[in-house]
Amino acid sequence: MGADITALVIGATGNVGPNVVRQLIGEGVTTRVLLLADDPRAGRLPDEGVEVFHGDLADPDSLLPALDGVESVLLMWPFFTLNVDTAPAVLERIERHARRVVFVSSIGVHIGYEHTDNNCHAYLEGLIEKTGLEWTFLQTTGFTANARLSYAQQIKAGGVVRSPYGTAARSSIHEEDVAAVAVRALTGSELAGRRLVITGPEVLTQIQQVEIIGEVIGRELSWEDVPAEAALEAMVGAGWPPAYASGALDYFAMLTEEPELITTTVEEVIGRPPRTFREWAVEFADDFR
Ligand SMILES: NC(=O)c1ccc[n+]([C@@H]2O[C@H](COP(=O)([O-])OP(=O)(O)OC[C@H]3O[C@@H](n4cnc5c(N)ncnc54)[C@H](OP(=O)(O)O)[C@@H]3O)[C@@H](O)[C@H]2O)c1
Repeated sequence: MGADITALVIGATGNVGPNVVRQLIGEGVTTRVLLLADDPRAGRLPDEGVEVFHGDLADPDSLLPALDGVESVLLMWPFFTLNVDTAPAVLERIERHARRVVFVSSIGVHIGYEHTDNNCHAYLEGLIEKTGLEWTFLQTTGFTANARLSYAQQIKAGGVVRSPYGTAARSSIHEEDVAAVAVRALTGSELAGRRLVITGPEVLTQIQQVEIIGEVIGRELSWEDVPAEAALEAMVGAGWPPAYASGALDYFAMLTEEPELITTTVEEVIGRPPRTFREWAVEFADDFR
């Protein structure tokens, strides 16, 4: 399976992309990456076995060399830094060359939290559906890697995590498991036309996630809720687009009342359950020490 195809990974230096690249190579797939940055591998890609192309989703024609001869494309959209103005032209270029596209989407689409009239996953899904490509949407919950982003600095600085909505209950997904599902979709047609709702195996509040990290690194950690308004200000200050920041906070508020759902999709597709948050924390414990 897979060995005789060429796949292009966009977002290859993010959280999901490097895992997709490693797994594709492991399956013998000819693997290309599209890199925006000059420092091509940023320490996140294997030294060998990857064909490196440079291109920018903001400049659709820049993707053409990477797309020439490709069968499957892993697409993600960097909504934080790029609006969707060029998305129709990017998809037209992909459709011209490839047979299938796998889009890293969000559970926000599944639960109806996103609307198609703004810069979001739902809008991209709508565009992709209108192409003649075989598509698969990975409607994922938050990545476990978000814990590093949200907590690591504060844990290292003193052990008190100050953040909003500590009781927001999430079914975070290990990015390697998202990648494993992506690889199945990239290397065959059996997942074509599927909207796969991808979650971790358990629901944990943010406070529980921090407790687990504390157990793993052998330190007592604590949580202090901060008001949403202060969090919004900090997020916007850190570069979040304001609409994204307030949307994320509204979603977290909702999750204090109504925990995120759990699906069995990962196990159905890859034949084993997704990894737990504790497994992720053990794997990346040094990031919190
Ligand atoms: N984080 C979550 O919890 C979550 C939850 C649900 C869905 N998602 C979706 O998952 C997607 C993938 O997330 P991720 O964490 O793996 O990656 P990410 O950190 O969101 O994105 C970084 C990647 O995007 C590439 N990139 C940025 N701007 C680009 C441009 N203009 N043209 C081409 N490539 C560009 C970067 O390439 P260079 O390094 O070369 O600059 C890097 O590889 C997200 O975009 C989001 O839509 C995320």
